[in-house]
Amino acid sequence: MSVGIDEISFYTSNYYLDLRTLAEAQQTDPDKYYVGIGQEKMGMAAPDEDIVTMAANAAMPLLAEGAGERVTTLLFATETGIDQSKAAGVYVHRLLGLSSNCRVVELKQACYSATAALQMACALVARKPDSKVLVVASDVARYDLNTPGEATQGCGAVALMISAKPRLVEIDPEVGNYTEDVMDFWRPNYRATALVDGKYSTKIYLKSLKKAWENFRTVSALTFNDFGHFCYHLPFGRMAQKAHQYLAKLNKSALSPEQQEYQIEDTLLYNRAIGNSYTASMYIGLASLLENGKRSLAGERIGFFSYGSGCVAEFFSGKVVEGYERWLHRDRHRQLLDARQALSYDEYLQLYRYPDPRDGEHHDLPAVTTGRFRLAAISHHKREYVVC
Ligand code: CAA
Repeated sequence: MSVGIDEISFYTSNYYLDLRTLAEAQQTDPDKYYVGIGQEKMGMAAPDEDIVTMAANAAMPLLAEGAGERVTTLLFATETGIDQSKAAGVYVHRLLGLSSNCRVVELKQACYSATAALQMACALVARKPDSKVLVVASDVARYDLNTPGEATQGCGAVALMISAKPRLVEIDPEVGNYTEDVMDFWRPNYRATALVDGKYSTKIYLKSLKKAWENFRTVSALTFNDFGHFCYHLPFGRMAQKAHQYLAKLNKSALSPEQQEYQIEDTLLYNRAIGNSYTASMYIGLASLLENGKRSLAGERIGFFSYGSGCVAEFFSGKVVEGYERWLHRDRHRQLLDARQALSYDEYLQLYRYPDPRDGEHHDLPAVTTGRFRLAAISHHKREYVVC
């Protein structure tokens, strides 16, 4: 029985900073960002948006016409959690009106945890094929100002409905994993921004790709040439381009510029405009591929490389289902990106520095988001979410 991704939807904030604006403020050549790291814009969450509101906005379109009734589990992947104890997914469960018999849990391992959620979801559905599992991945990527990581910020959420006989991508059971205890990127509990050893992190990313691929090859009959496309974890577009060249070289494949373009460029389009969304980024890359492919991808195999700093990595594969085009949310996604507002550098700094109240008093938050869900207040240390 086939199991996999039945539907995919993403959400990002209505606000973005163009990296040209950042470059101008920093007196840097904009090509360092546009070409050097391969990014153009980065999403900035409004004061009344967070991982919960973005996740609910991403998932809502998948629950039309009673589709939520068969959802038995909601798995919430994030590395920018809002609570040390309560799963962010429990708020999403209420906002979406899911059944009180639906279990909810939050998963963490840097940018990798959405892939753990996807694999767990496939296993749950394989045991009970009439059920569905909702996987949501949601993150706000934040680095300190005036650090090399600053231009690789962003925010976004993705929702994947996992079912038997999926309409988009069948996920193969074979996976290759790699885990190593390293300090390339981390965020201690007392910090709002991540710490990163940037150059080291890019080296560990490539090492993990090699190791996960080698492990994958021991369990799967698929070779490099069996894949039509590759979705890589996307901290920034240039990382995926480098990773793909590296994987081709490991497999002694002479990758022409046309092949490189065909195999990965469509996966980069949405992320180039959103920035890093950590756990969500590879799956927003998948939506970008499926929705922007210049010809039908039906029957093609996709190779996925998921990477979470710290680190855990996984290479796995999937096959695009015949007729997948009918079930995409292409127009809504494009409208969402086209309707966004550019921020000036000062407006960006205001959002970046927006107070994060921790005193237990009542704080109303300004109604700014254009999304369906918002964080209306933080009161007595409780977050109050509303449907707009
Ligand atoms: N025109 C064109 N290209 C230019 C340029 C210009 N004017 N100026 C610089 N460049 C190029 C450089 O040559 C370089 O290219 P190569 O990588 O091909 O050599 C590229 O732009 C980047 O410039 P720098 O080497 O000067 O690098 P930097 O100091 O800006 O930092 C970074 C880059 C380390 C990746 C930094 O952005 C960072 O720390 N990012 C956050 C960490 C990260 O994303 N790591 C990725 C792996 S970890 C992971 O994947 C998990 C996760 O999500 C965080």
